[in-house]
Amino acid sequence: MPRILGTACGGVALVGLTMALGALAASPSPTPATASLAAWSVPDVDALPEDAWGKTVRYGRDLITKTYALIGPEVADPAKRFAGNNLACGSCHLEAGTKRFGLPFQGVYADFPNYRARSGSVGTIEDRIEGCMTRSMNGKPLPPLGAEMTAMVAYMKFLSDGRLVGAATPGRGPGAMPELDRAADPAHGREVFAQNCAACHGADGQGQRAGAVGEAQGYTFPPLWGPDSFNDGAGMDRLSAAANFIHSNMPNGITWGAPALSAEDGWDVAAFVQAQPRPHKDKLEQDYPVRLERPVDSGFGPYADGFSQDQHRLGPFAPIRAEIKRLQSGEARTQ
Ligand code: HEC
Ligand code: HEC
Repeated sequence: MPRILGTACGGVALVGLTMALGALAASPSPTPATASLAAWSVPDVDALPEDAWGKTVRYGRDLITKTYALIGPEVADPAKRFAGNNLACGSCHLEAGTKRFGLPFQGVYADFPNYRARSGSVGTIEDRIEGCMTRSMNGKPLPPLGAEMTAMVAYMKFLSDGRLVGAATPGRGPGAMPELDRAADPAHGREVFAQNCAACHGADGQGQRAGAVGEAQGYTFPPLWGPDSFNDGAGMDRLSAAANFIHSNMPNGITWGAPALSAEDGWDVAAFVQAQPRPHKDKLEQDYPVRLERPVDSGFGPYADGFSQDQHRLGPFAPIRAEIKRLQSGEARTQ
């Protein structure tokens, strides 16, 4: 965590510079200093020609920004109703999945297939997209060889062009601010929400629709909980993802490095959002088949470490992490 923070801090002034790819290629394990040279770049999707590739990449972008209008629960063709809510992928993958620390797709294509602790197996980028389809979008998997999946993967590949397979992309993910040494406080988070979030997301957290129910127009301000939100198996329902996403990006429009909230307010408001009701994903106990690989902030057990569900949801996480480390080293000794 401090590593990303530190390197990205150093890199802020370099945003916009063209990255010296050769420097990274020459070094098998880039040091933080080298990694910070990686510039943040947003490849220009509109500059692609009107050929099959350009059209496919642009369709991929549309699927990210207008998910609700193309594969949402209210689209005219019932066979295309894959998503279960009216969010867009871009509700969380900000600026069409190109925003630094706004869960961007730059570099993602270069990182798959990889080992996924959640499934306990090696998964492809298509598997990862299905994860967000069934959890963040509370819907059904897309046909893995269909036009939609192909277009989304093409878009992610285009955004990842020039990024080395296996190399880190600083700016990927939601950021990583310091953790608290206390449990996050949803009661204080309620106040933070009223002051900083309710103006857009509504006092009841249900956001503001862009059209009438049934018109498949999505949201001007997306809901943060309730029936049309992400489900409880989603990455955004884990405290660290939500707290960092909010701290790096909310109120919408701020950029990483110039947060509007303190770190404490970020953790507390995320805890408040997570305490609210949302759709339930069944069989969550089957996630993380290797129990010691369950993230410290996973909201659901079974846990291998003896800490309560409350502490897993709210922290503090350092004691859990230390116990997991201890158990892992014990396991290593008995093998
Ligand atoms: C409610 C918020 C939300 C929505 C909506 C959402 N995602 Fe995600 N997505 C996340 C979070 C949070 C993560 C990172 C989870 C983690 O830390 O592992 C993620 C991770 C991903 C990743 C892997 C990124 C990486 O850096 O490895 C891909 C690819 C992805 N999502 C695609 C999609 C697509 C495609 C859609 C729409 C069909 C979508 N997501 C909708 C929250 C969301
Ligand atoms: C100025 C309006 C505005 C404010 C204030 C604001 N947001 Fe958002 N928020 C948005 C918009 C718009 C999006 C979706 C981004 C997009 O579609 O481009 C979003 C997305 C989100 C998401 C991911 C999508 C989802 O539906 O879950 C979360 C979580 C979130 N905001 C939390 C917060 C929190 C917590 C606060 C207060 C600290 C906050 N926001 C303040 C406008 C706002």
